[in-house]
Amino acid sequence: MDTHTTNLTYFEHLLLNRLSKGEVKGKIQEIAHPYRELMAYYRCAMMSMETKFQVLNEELSLQYDRNPIESIKTRLKSPESLLNKMIEKQLPLTVESIENNINDVAGVRVICSYVSDIYMLADVLLKQDDIVLVKRKDYIANPKENGYRSLHLIVQIPIFLHDKKRMMKVEVQFRTISMDCWASLEHKIRYKKDVHISPEIAEDLRSCAEICEVLDQKMEAIQNKVRPASL
Ligand code: GTP
Ligand code: MG
Repeated sequence: MDTHTTNLTYFEHLLLNRLSKGEVKGKIQEIAHPYRELMAYYRCAMMSMETKFQVLNEELSLQYDRNPIESIKTRLKSPESLLNKMIEKQLPLTVESIENNINDVAGVRVICSYVSDIYMLADVLLKQDDIVLVKRKDYIANPKENGYRSLHLIVQIPIFLHDKKRMMKVEVQFRTISMDCWASLEHKIRYKKDVHISPEIAEDLRSCAEICEVLDQKMEAIQNKVRPASL
């Protein structure tokens, strides 16, 4: 039996409740420590990433007299949604497999003032010599069918532990305030219990996304008129 099958079989047993209570407890303890350790590393990676953006915001605001970042949000994926995602993707339910296969355990959302700030900050981040780009998805240039817009980067960032350096993956989502407004409300609507998204509602949501896009363009045009020579 290879590791893959062994891991799956173990969790199948667990799910089917075939193990005695003592055995389950033992297995959970076996997994709990490496899991907690990995989550602590992801939290450290999120902290480092958040600090990077705070530093940039501070520096750029001195230089240009305005903040390109409105706010930064961080979140660690909950054990429930981590487990659901792994079952959905039919991944082996192991701590190792989390690190290898799940890109959004650590999430950092950077809410920017204007669309141009998003691209500027993403470029500046990727130029930093400790950051490694894993994946880039531009849902601003190519919005999703439902209207969703954001720039997504999966990057690796180092964390420095007492005896080693470890590269950790972080998902960075860049959005304007209006993109974030649309995405937050759409998420709430979509995940409401017993709500069916009819084609009509889907079309209404798409049209709201277009309004947000126009709003972003108009606000940026106003900003450019007010300070044509600045950032
Ligand atoms: P996995 O989620 O890792 O399977 O990959 P993916 O290809 O689906 O990732 P993608 O970059 O498309 O989306 C990742 C995250 O972006 C999600 O977890 C959400 O936070 C956000 N997102 C993507 N699409 C939507 C959307 O249609 N609506 C909202 N509100 N958020 C979205
Ligand atoms: Mg997804």
